[in-house]
Amino acid sequence: MLGDSKDRYGALSKTLHWLMAVLIGWQLLKFGDRIADGEHWVGQTLVPWHISIGSLLLVFIAARLLWAVSQRQHRPEQDPEIAVLVKAGHGLLYAGMLLMPLSGMMVMLGGGHGINAFGLQLVSEGEEIVLASALGSVHSPLAWALTVLIIGHIGMALIHHFIKRDDTLTRML
Ligand code: HEM
Ligand code: HEM
Repeated sequence: MLGDSKDRYGALSKTLHWLMAVLIGWQLLKFGDRIADGEHWVGQTLVPWHISIGSLLLVFIAARLLWAVSQRQHRPEQDPEIAVLVKAGHGLLYAGMLLMPLSGMMVMLGGGHGINAFGLQLVSEGEEIVLASALGSVHSPLAWALTVLIIGHIGMALIHHFIKRDDTLTRML
């Protein structure tokens, strides 16, 4: 089923979740530039797609946000005791997924580099923009914060599955 239900996430939510998880994992490989200035296999093959995949992720997160709003009345329910925490955690993940591409674009615009995604020139090169650079300066700290959140999120999913032994993970699989 395409849509969500009280028992499980539907096909579209699952596809968006896992496709974006893979692409965001790919994006985080950009941290690899800190090792030997990116002069290694990962830095030369996967990381150069950073701008293209990041721009695509902006489209995906916009679609995912709209989809989440349309499904909010019939998504799986959370344990009432921790529902507020779970919603806050998922809300922060959404904020991270939206702010990462936006701030990355600010880095590029701020430096006057323009934005080229998959060979398509979305914004042409131009003057440096001080305000955009300032907004872009949150890109790296946000990437660290999102990484911590994702590790916590994966940890919680595994705790549900292997320790609490409930259906939290299987309803997203
Ligand atoms: C979900 C989307 C994205 C994620 C998770 C992400 C993640 C990252 C990470 C982990 C770094 C390395 C930071 C560090 O070493 O401190 C980075 C750097 C960078 N990213 Fe992204 N990024 C995303 C989207 C984008 C987009 C859309 C653009 C541009 C259009 C972009 C442009 C850059 C640039 C220019 C750098 C190097 C400069 C800097 O560290 O400030 N990113 N990104
Ligand atoms: C970049 C990585 C990830 C991000 C940004 C992310 C984000 C999210 C978000 C926002 C939700 C709420 C449902 C939705 O709106 O789609 C969610 C649900 C879920 N995620 Fe992830 N996720 C990531 C990776 C993972 C991984 C690797 C696992 C498994 C080990 C996982 C397991 C789950 C589970 C089980 C749910 C359902 C939770 C529930 O219904 O209470 N996620 N994820």
